Amino acid sequence: MMKFILNQETMEIDEPLGKPTLDFIRDSGLKGSKEVCHEGDCGACMILLGELKGEELVYRAVTSCILPLGEVEAKHVVTIEGINQEKLSPIQQALVDTGGVQCGYCTPGFVISLTGFFMKSKLGNEDILTAIEGNVCRCTGHASIIRAAKLLSEKYSSVKQSNQSWIKSLIDEGILPGYFEGIKEKLKELKKAKRQTKGRLVAGGTDLFVQNETIDNPVFLSNMGLDKIWSDNDFIHIGTMANTEQIRLSPELNMILDIEEHLSTVSSLPIRKQATIGGNIANASPIGDLTIYFLALNADISIRLDEVNRIIKLKDFYKGYKILDLQEGEILEWVRIRNEKKLFSFEKVAKREHLDIASVNSALSFTLIDNKMKEIQLSAGGIGPIPMILEKTSALLENKEISSSLIKEAAEIALTEISPIDDVRGSAKYKSLLLRQLIYAHFLKLFPAMEESL
Ligand code: FES
Ligand code: FES
Repeated sequence: MMKFILNQETMEIDEPLGKPTLDFIRDSGLKGSKEVCHEGDCGACMILLGELKGEELVYRAVTSCILPLGEVEAKHVVTIEGINQEKLSPIQQALVDTGGVQCGYCTPGFVISLTGFFMKSKLGNEDILTAIEGNVCRCTGHASIIRAAKLLSEKYSSVKQSNQSWIKSLIDEGILPGYFEGIKEKLKELKKAKRQTKGRLVAGGTDLFVQNETIDNPVFLSNMGLDKIWSDNDFIHIGTMANTEQIRLSPELNMILDIEEHLSTVSSLPIRKQATIGGNIANASPIGDLTIYFLALNADISIRLDEVNRIIKLKDFYKGYKILDLQEGEILEWVRIRNEKKLFSFEKVAKREHLDIASVNSALSFTLIDNKMKEIQLSAGGIGPIPMILEKTSALLENKEISSSLIKEAAEIALTEISPIDDVRGSAKYKSLLLRQLIYAHFLKLFPAMEESL
């Protein structure tokens, strides 16, 4: 039995915890959330998920088709029906006014994403278009929807000046119905319930629930408080339940890396808000973007069993295809990197430029001392059974001055270290070619003057 709030109603249900939330919603008779791709990629099933973080009630727009029911325990699920009021909300009205609706199939998802944009307690400088990058419209054309979003952004940028509670401001503006005011207290009660602690560990599940719609006995790590990012003089630690968007916007990480820009290509916003670094690492996909990124940063990971933790290098975590150095009962606790600025580059090639699984990805980090590359780490994914550090290539580059002949030699050595296979993302030959180009791309990005010689 688990409890959560669905729009205004407190639900007490006995359903498989791995069942997609979308299926539950639609089976309950709420048909506004649509099912299209069922892979988290189109935004037709978008809902708002509200949860207590300390004293704060925080909402984010997520795709409910890959959100297992267990993840909504003690949280507030808001579907389009939970936004609807007697009159159209200003967001719905803007879409009507700009001609942003044709068949209407995508519209609930857009309304939810745009509403979610305004529900952040601080609007900041983030472009409203980021909020709808995970929504696809198949018939209107996005121009009129973008026009609506821009109008809304202009209209409501001043609302953030208000001193009263943010939720109350949005209710006064007609963006949210009045019942939102009582949600926080209700969630505090629901949070007191005991949770299941034995079963298959799930950290986000954005890949897992695409492949298996229903998982027996999932245990959701999101409730374990492992989502913090913190730094000291020596290290920056990232809790394994920190999601990709949280990592992308982390002030600590952005002090030493251009991570905000690098991670914008990883996936669309709703997936970034759901996918965690722990899930990406423990999934052991040979092509996980975050894994490749942090491998090049020579990251450590902490693995905990009850009160005891052990710390190992991330690169030593992978023992073979989907085989991890992780024993029964152990959980990945945090990832850490040195708190120092390095020269760093991350590159990926996918069928779509952004927001897609890569065919090949790669990252490179080093420091430059007296014109020589030190502590160099070159990682690559999609070119073997595990995400890899290219050890021989890194060793070749270590302590050397940068030259085009050295980089060309390194690219050739790299090709001897990999074992790509033919699959849907490209032939083995194509992937080898890509890796060579990505190695060149790293150096061209860091040293644009090399363009003539490389
Ligand atoms: Fe496409 Fe859920 S149905 S994102
Ligand atoms: Fe038809 Fe968007 S209005 S899919």
